[in-house]
Amino acid sequence: MPVSRFSISLEEELLKDLDLYVKDNNFPNRSQALRHLIEKNIVEKKWQCNNIVAGAIVMIYDHHKKEILSRSNDIQHDYTEEILSSQHYHLSHDICLEIVAVKGRAQRLTELSDKLISIKGIKHGKLIMSKTD
Ligand code: NI
Repeated sequence: MPVSRFSISLEEELLKDLDLYVKDNNFPNRSQALRHLIEKNIVEKKWQCNNIVAGAIVMIYDHHKKEILSRSNDIQHDYTEEILSSQHYHLSHDICLEIVAVKGRAQRLTELSDKLISIKGIKHGKLIMSKTD
């Protein structure tokens, strides 16, 4: 995609904040950081508008707690339209990583993610969203 250049006027304080943001997140430069912030903002907007978005639900759990697997399966079977695939990785003797790839209306994906992540025993869960166009 062609890249356009433009100049930005920022207050000193805001520029300092931007540079700190660049440093903290290991962005190679300010442009990359701004690109990220703009994209993030647009995704959130689409999210609020309940547009079609795509993403992944990431979960970490102890597979010895059998009820997590069965509960997760029950929930996922109610979202067959939204779930593209799911992958399960055995990270260690106890711990599993599950990644559920999803696409659909933002509110429906958020609802699915909330249900999965709130299953008792899930150690960590996160929904990552991206725009599809
Ligand atoms: Ni496993």
